[in-house]
Order: sequence, then C-alpha cells, then structure tokens
Amino acid sequence: MRIAVIPGDGIGIDVTAEAVKVVRAVGRVFGRTFDLEMLPYGADYFLQTGISLPPNGYAMLRDQFDAIYIGALGDPRIPDMRHARDILLGTRFELDLYVNHRPVRLLDERLCPLKNRGPEDVDFVVFRENTEGVYVNVGGRFKAGTPDEIAVQEEINTFKGVHRIVKHAFEYAEANGLKKVLMADKSNAMTQGHALWQRVFAELSAQYGGVEASHMYIDALTMQMVKNPAQFEVIVTNNMFGDIITDLGAQLQGGLGMAASGNLHPGRTSMFEPVHGSAPKYAGKNVANPVGAILSAALMLDYLGLKQEAAAIEAAVKQSVVSKNGTAEIGGTLGTKETGDYVARLIERKDMKDRTDAEQTKN
Ligand code: IPM
Ligand code: MN
Repeated sequence: MRIAVIPGDGIGIDVTAEAVKVVRAVGRVFGRTFDLEMLPYGADYFLQTGISLPPNGYAMLRDQFDAIYIGALGDPRIPDMRHARDILLGTRFELDLYVNHRPVRLLDERLCPLKNRGPEDVDFVVFRENTEGVYVNVGGRFKAGTPDEIAVQEEINTFKGVHRIVKHAFEYAEANGLKKVLMADKSNAMTQGHALWQRVFAELSAQYGGVEASHMYIDALTMQMVKNPAQFEVIVTNNMFGDIITDLGAQLQGGLGMAASGNLHPGRTSMFEPVHGSAPKYAGKNVANPVGAILSAALMLDYLGLKQEAAAIEAAVKQSVVSKNGTAEIGGTLGTKETGDYVARLIERKDMKDRTDAEQTKN
C-alpha cells in the first residue's frame, strides 16, 4: 500500500513521526508492508522554492497513492497561509474529498471538561461538508482599504454537494448500526441556501427509515453539545459549521491534540490529518500530543479496509491515555516520541500476548 506522507510544519513534523512509527509497528504485527513516501511540501519548501505543491501535485497524489497523510500546515513566516491553502484546502477541492469525517470520542472521563461525563456520553461523529460552502472563496472586495469597502463572501450550496454529504451520513449510520442522524444548519436566517439543506435532508430521511432523523439550528447544537453530548450519534453539517463544531468536539475529547480526521471521497484516494494546527511555539520540543495524529493514521487504515490494524491502534491509544502514558495534554509526563514508543510497544506486546494465548489454547 502506497501512502504519501506530508509531515508539513511545526509540530506536524513531530507528531507525524509518531504516527508513522505506529503504522510501521502495526504493519510488523499484522505482516503488512506500507510504502510510506515522505514528501517535503510545507513552509520550508515553499520559502526555498516558491512552490507549495508542484504543478502536477494533485494528480500525483491522486494517481500514485492509496492515501495521503498530512501532519499540520501553517508557519508565521507565511502570514497569508498560501502554502497551507494550496496543500490542505487545495487537496480537499482538487481531489473532491467531500466528506470531512471527524470522530468525537472521549477516551477517559478525566479529560472531559464537562462534569460527570464519561466515554459513554461523548461518542459521536461529525460529517462536515468539505468541498463547498463559504470555503469556495467566491466573492470579492470592492474599494478595499477605503472607508467605502464592500466585501462579499458567498456561500455555495449545490444539490449534488449537499446530497452526497447527507447521504454519506445516513449510509455511515446504517453501516455502523447507529440509529440517529442530526443535520444542523441556519435555515431560520439563511433562508435560501439552507432551504436546500432542509429539502435534501427531508428527502433522504424518508429513504432511510431505520434511522431517526432530526434537525437543530447550529447555535442550538453548540449549546446541546455542551449540555448533553450523549444524545448524538451522527451529525452532518456544512463546511464552516463543521469546522467550528469540531473544535468544540475536540475539547470535549480533552483538547485539540486528541482529535482525528479524514478527508474522504469514498472509493478514491483520501487524505488524513489530525485536527490541530502546526503550533510553531511547541515545534521540535517533543511536547506535542501525538494522539490525534496517531488516531488519524488509524482512521486511514480503517478507510483502506484494514479494520483490525485500525482497531489495534485505537485500543493501544486508549490504553496509553487511560494509564496516563502520554504528554501533558492527557495528564502524563511523556514526550511526543516516548508516547509514540509506548503506543507502538503496546501494539507489539498485545500481539505477543495473543500469540501466547493462542499457543496455550492449542496445547
Ligand atoms: C481545519 C482547519 C482548516 C479549515 C483551516 C486551516 C483552513 O481549521 O481543518 O479544521 O478551516 O478547514
Ligand atoms: Mn478547524
């Protein structure tokens, strides 16, 4: 399996090394060879060459790899984020990765900022539309910089775009034995664009009878995510609302460093990245929490059909978090590297134990 790895910038480089370490460990245990190709794109490369991605970059990623893994992008030396936009948003758009799959799963009660909420209360998935909305950058500035400036940023909602993301949410629920899909919009104020979300959601709800469909306005949803997150199983929403609520979701899991994501086009080369940014202040200091990065790698393997491998990583991460073998963000004293070592060792040790158990059963 060929995987393009773009460690990117800042702590992206630190956490990607650990995700790669864990993928290699799981590969050894399950007898799989992963061909991980490290690609240099990021702030340094851009500053040295003026190139964010080469001209054939998107086609190369799409045609030559089974998946793409990205650490994080962003660097204070490039204030307009040009390279990050090209690499991250560019790949989402050019590869038409219309599903942004962001699980919100609390691993340990200790880490939840809400009182008396445990892993059984915070366990849902957000599907964020990933190819349209306000992110298409349709609009313009007129008389920019003057007191008469007018700035327009249009939100694009297409039937095709809304339909495919909402459908994905229902199909995911069905395939995973989940019973509830909630759609969030702002159709009370955005009565044009979000009327389309209402229409599509009504049409698709009718087709998935086994799934309970409900709706909240996005502002009410943020309130309910804090008040009673246990009520959610699958949430589907637009690009910007999904961006915002998944940062809130990350905190429900214990911090931005915990959260994983996949940018998917089912059946095609897709891209995986932790939700957090490049946090230049912490770069290279061996302090960044690699959990979100490692869980993003698990999501990638799951997407590639390697369910057991993904589950083994998730179980090891959970055990490391619960036993506080991790960085300060999870209440531990380990560094980034030592956390990766710990998770990798757990996967390898678990394998030894399983083999010994199997041997004993045989005898
Ligand atoms: C995310 C990030 C990006 C987004 C930024 C870096 C453009 O916040 O992946 O959530 O808004 O999608
Ligand atoms: Mn975000």
